[in-house]
Amino acid sequence: MKLIKNIGQLLQVREGKQALKGEEMSILPVIKDAYLIIKDKKIYDFGKMQNLPDNTYREVIDAKGQLLMPTWIDSHTHLVYAASRADEFVDKINGLSYEQIAQRGGGILNSVKKMNEIDAETLYQKSALLLKEIMSYGTGAIEIKSGYGLSINGELKMLRVIKKLKENFDIPIKATFLGAHAVPMAYKNNKKGYIDLLINELLPIIAKEKLADYIDVFCEKNYFTAEETNQILKAGITYGLKPKVHANQFNSIGGIDIATQNNALSVDHLEVMNDKDFEILKRSDTIATALPACSFFIDIPYAPLKKMIDNDIAISLATDFNPGSTPTFNMNFVVSLACIKQKLTPEQAINAATVNAAASLELENEMGSIAIGKKANLMLLKAYIKDFKEIPYFFATNPVEMIIN
Ligand code: NIG
Ligand code: FE
Repeated sequence: MKLIKNIGQLLQVREGKQALKGEEMSILPVIKDAYLIIKDKKIYDFGKMQNLPDNTYREVIDAKGQLLMPTWIDSHTHLVYAASRADEFVDKINGLSYEQIAQRGGGILNSVKKMNEIDAETLYQKSALLLKEIMSYGTGAIEIKSGYGLSINGELKMLRVIKKLKENFDIPIKATFLGAHAVPMAYKNNKKGYIDLLINELLPIIAKEKLADYIDVFCEKNYFTAEETNQILKAGITYGLKPKVHANQFNSIGGIDIATQNNALSVDHLEVMNDKDFEILKRSDTIATALPACSFFIDIPYAPLKKMIDNDIAISLATDFNPGSTPTFNMNFVVSLACIKQKLTPEQAINAATVNAAASLELENEMGSIAIGKKANLMLLKAYIKDFKEIPYFFATNPVEMIIN
């Protein structure tokens, strides 16, 4: 047994078995002056220091008044990629928009070209290095998408790398098949042919090799329509893959409607929302995942999270880490942006990035809160953080002193 004693604030103490909505989002349950005991990598006991059981412990960590909380859960990343797109970053500084860069052959298709040139071992090594770094910033469970292969070999290469990450890393990893991220060059004038390839050739192999948990589509003008999204999601569902959908990033074209009809776990982005989109989300259990670091980097509107909370829509936060629209994996920065730009309170933002993020990856029974039996995947915060409000307040920093599991 491992004991952590003298915890200044033990944060997010609740069963946390389902996504929080509305008023519940404003509450962050805290135990001050606490202890926590870990046994077999699970939370075994916790409480007030004055009630610490008299026992012997294999290891004792003195938190010296510092804060302890569950790790962040990053439910939306594209962390397996071949090369950075820093050249496009410079184009953007010089005035081009994300969409203009994509239209002249950059963007996702730029990453696809590089993905099809890299060998699997190098790709794995690069990805593993990144994942280690990401974990040091407090991310304790992560979703990773394919979508830079856009060919049979390219998509399988990415998904097999994700599978290897799952095998070699001690945190929950969910794999998402995003073959419908863009239409590849070879199918420029034959989108139907590409969709057929995804459905008839790739999905059966992915299912057979158990390479994915979820299916995603970039439902957007110039990418995939709502009808195409519907067709692809339904095909994924027949192979046991639950939907998570990129929707409403630049235009509202019906992605939310299709995603909820197919019981999507989440719809992600949501920078552009109309009244009908709100109505549909209100009536569903699909989690609305905002990606404010993407808005920050490519300078687009932020998802209207406050209005979503007011409408009792379950919201979550993720990085969207990728080489094009969001080159950061810092969940703490995401939580800060949600407060600064989307006017969430620290309680709401922390709830979105822990309990609700866990639900959006079907990890609500094992992650996202301090509860007996949940995975001990915890972070001890740095000594300068004296209160949970200071987690988003010290923006763009790394609050983690130590990961404890
Ligand atoms: O979520 N919007 C679509 N896909 C990614 C960006 C991918 C890229 O630019 O490489 C996103 O922002
Ligand atoms: Fe994304």
